[in-house]
Parts: sequence; structure tokens; C-alpha cells
Amino acid sequence: MKSGRRPLIAANWKMNGLKADGTALAGAVAERAKAAGTALAADILICPPATLIAPVGDVLAGSPVWLGGQDCSPETSGAFTGDIAAAMLRDLGCRAVITGHSERRAGHRETNGQVRAKTSAALAQGLVAIVCVGETAAERDAGQALDVVGARLLHSVPDEAKAASLVVAYEPVWAIGTGRVPTLAEIEAMHRHIRTLLADKLSDGADVRILYGGSVKASNAREILAIADVDGALVGGASLKADEFWGIVEVAPTR
Ligand code: PGA
Repeated sequence: MKSGRRPLIAANWKMNGLKADGTALAGAVAERAKAAGTALAADILICPPATLIAPVGDVLAGSPVWLGGQDCSPETSGAFTGDIAAAMLRDLGCRAVITGHSERRAGHRETNGQVRAKTSAALAQGLVAIVCVGETAAERDAGQALDVVGARLLHSVPDEAKAASLVVAYEPVWAIGTGRVPTLAEIEAMHRHIRTLLADKLSDGADVRILYGGSVKASNAREILAIADVDGALVGGASLKADEFWGIVEVAPTR
């Protein structure tokens, strides 16, 4: 069944990489993407740490691989030491930005309201916003996963969002960097739930790409990406090795 939603395989390098290894990694991915040409079944995105956005952008120029940020400020400019405005990401050639990653929600106390404001700021700059939502192990064990993820989603996605510039990443907190993944049935149920909520909230919500993230690697990507409402992956650890990351890109289904 054709959905029309082209898969997106997104690399989140987190706080990893110095200039030499970051540019080498980006170069290796760009080379493979160029070689694949029109056979490429997925959009590919690399979100390096902020210090590497410019040099990685230089390496990706002329390749089909998108450049993105890992976070942006809800503000447009001014006295916000250490923060990065969406316009600054755009200025460096970014096409996308991750908002509301669980490491920022937990480590920087970001609320749904702040995530929504950051997402609005990104959309206002013409960036694709990848809004992350997920449940903790305790929430899943308590049988609340669908409810808490649904609430996080509805409060984190701004009303003006459109399918062309909104991506949602479902990332169970307990699956990030742990090697543990939900069952395929659990992923399927959550993505279907997210799809239903988005379709209710936004006029074209059914067309929003919904990524799965949390311990995705080349060896489990095929079965995860084959799930009907999974439109790609947000990849952390496995995105730090070109071969492993490319092994995920390669098994993205044509849709
Ligand atoms: P992981 O991270 O692939 O290392 O589990 C995913 C993420 O945090 O986006």
C-alpha cells in the first residue's frame, strides 16, 4: 500500500564528534548517498553538534543529505547566552531541527510548552521540526504509555504545523541508548495512536511523517521500518558509524 510518505532516516550525533571525525563521517554518508542517486528510497538527515554544523554543512553541500540542528531557541535573537536561534541554523544551511528530545526534556527541564514554542520558532523559519515524544519505563509499566505520549504530543505540536514541515519522532525513553526496543506490536500501536491524534489535530495530520527512535541499528531496522505507520528512524548511537548508519538507510522501504 502506498502512503506517499517518503521515509526519513535521521542521524542524531548528540554531543559526539570533533572536526576531523565529524567531517569524515559526514563525507562517508554523503558519498554513499551520491552513489545511490535516484535509487535512494529515503530522505537522509544529519544533525551534528552545533560546533560541527558549519564544517559538516560544507561536506554535505551538493549531496542529497540534509543538515539539521539538535535544538533551537524559542526566541528570535537577543540576550540568551549559549542559545541558538532557528534563523542561525537556517543561515548555515540547515533544513531541519530536532525539538523536545528526551535528553533535553530530562536534562534541561524542557516542558511541552517550551518544546511547542521552539517548534513554532523552527517552523517560522521554514525549518522542518522533528518533535520528539516518548514515555519512561515507569509510565509504560503503569500501562500509561499511549496516554502520556498522546498528551505530550498534543501539547508539544503547535496548531499551525503542517505535514510538509512537521515530523514526529516516537522515542521511548527507556529504549534510547539501551539496546532495548519495544515489540513490533507496541511500536505499531503507538504509531497508529499518534497518527490518529495528528489526523484529529491538523488538517493534513495523516500525512505527517512519524519516526521511531531508540536503539535502531542496521540489524533491527528492516522489521521496524516495515511497520505501516513507521515513516523512518531517528538514530543516535548507530549513526556514528557510516556503515552501520548506511545499513539502516538501505533497508528503508520504498513508499
Ligand atoms: P539511540 O538514540 O539510537 O542511541 O538509542 C536515539 C535518539 O536518542 O535519538
